[in-house]
Formats: sequence, C-alpha cells, structure tokens
Amino acid sequence: MHTNHSKLKTGVGLRSPHLDQFLNSSPNNVSWVEVVAENYMEHEDHFQGVSIANLEQVRSHLPVILHGVSLSIASTDPIKASHMKRLKNLIDRIQPEWVSDHLCWTGVDGENLHDLLPLPFTREAIFHVVDRIKQVQDYLGQRILIENISSYLEFTESEITEWEFLKEVAERSDCHILLDVNNVYVNSINHGFDAQDYLEALSQDRIQQIHIAGHVERNGVLIDTHSTNVRKEVWDLYRESVRLFGPIPAMIERDADIPEWEELEKEVEMISRITTEESHEAEKVAARI
Ligand SMILES: [Fe+2]
Repeated sequence: MHTNHSKLKTGVGLRSPHLDQFLNSSPNNVSWVEVVAENYMEHEDHFQGVSIANLEQVRSHLPVILHGVSLSIASTDPIKASHMKRLKNLIDRIQPEWVSDHLCWTGVDGENLHDLLPLPFTREAIFHVVDRIKQVQDYLGQRILIENISSYLEFTESEITEWEFLKEVAERSDCHILLDVNNVYVNSINHGFDAQDYLEALSQDRIQQIHIAGHVERNGVLIDTHSTNVRKEVWDLYRESVRLFGPIPAMIERDADIPEWEELEKEVEMISRITTEESHEAEKVAARI
C-alpha cells in the first residue's frame, strides 16, 4: 500500500511569463506551484518582474514550494549563515509546504559557479553531506527535500551507484527526496545504467515530490536544458514511478523557451492523466487480490 504523501496533486514551476494565470486564481489541474527560492531571497522587493508581493498574492490561494539552487550542500565551504538566514526569513514570510535544494555543490572558496556540480559517490562524501543536511534541517526546524541532479561526468573515486548514494544520504540525514525523473533518465543514458534499477532502489516513504522536464541531445550526450517538451522516455519513467511509489506530487519544470501557458498546461494535464490511469490500474489489481 502506498503512503499518501500529501494533499498536493499536480503542480508547475511558476515562471514570470505565466504569473497572470496564477495571481488571482489557479488554472485547472494545478494544485500548487514551486518557485526558485533565491529569486525572492536576493532582492526581496523585486526580481525579473516578479515581486515578493506577487508571490504572497499567489500564496494566498495556492500552496507554494520553495526550491533552492545555491545551498551548495556538498561544498567544502561552510554553509553560509547569510544564505540560511535569508532562506529562513522567506520561509517565515511565505509559509511554503516544504523546501528543497540539490544534491550537489555550486562553488568553493567563496565562489558561486552558478551550476549544479556532481560529487563522487563515496563513503566520505556521504558523511560530509549528511552532516551538512542535518545542520540545515536543525537551523530551519524542518526536514528538507534533496534533489538528484543530471551530470555529464563520473568520478573514478566513486565506490557506489548514484541511487545507493542518494538513498543512504536521505536515510542517514532523515531528509526527503525530490526525485527528478528527467535527471534519472539523462544520467542513465550519459552514464549507461538502467533507470529502472535507480527507481526500484528508492524507498517510497522518502520521496515527497517529483520533477518532470525536457532535455536535448548534443553529440550523443543528453543535456538537461528544461527547454523542450518532455520526451516520451521521461513520461514512461514518470509512469513507472507512479506504479512504484503511488501518486506523489509531481510538476513540470520549464526554464527556457517557455511557451504560452496553454501549451505548458498540456504537459501538466499529462501528469494528471498518467497519475489517474495508474491509480485506477492499482485499484483494479487491489480489487482482484
Ligand atoms: Fe529538477
């Protein structure tokens, strides 16, 4: 039996071109939105046309999730106190359903490289990251979600698989997982593993949210661009995740070549359709037992 993770169903990453659709009401099939936390932390009054007041207006009628991109949980630099304080202030103001960031590092020696960089899957790295997630969770007073990233290289130092690493980090730090099925697919092609093995290794109780996005292929390498429609292979992997884990809140991430809302809405509806179809299948199987 699957755990009912949340009252949230299908969501979307709210981007400024679609703000008008969300300010006063919610489009069909959207029961929550995710926003990039730093957009509202860096400039509390204004960012790229999206103000904190607009976010508060959306929040007045729709659950919001804060998604960070620069916590740099795997860096060897100390966790920035100023970053944590600004994140906490935003949490207090917006009251998000939950808060997430990535299993990666984004800089070292005080530099922010503005990229989500991979780490070696070693015992040493597990203890390093777990200690830092615990620091963050203690400071915020809540569990956070950690997302698996896409990557374009592997470390010869790695001792275990990516999914073993993710699972152990989540269990040891008692955090949740934000499972990006597009990143699983991209890495499965780039690094030559079976995406099914990845999903089957994870525990449904740890997964609280799912990301679905588009990627492109360049010179035989899949690049996680969030600039295209979701590929069939990624939809198939999402369907498999619903079979394995049940209906977990899932959303579309689109960050480049952002289409009109009506176009993106079709992908949001696709999430709902797959979730409903697989839930009905699970009910039929349960009724037969
Ligand atoms: Fe993602």
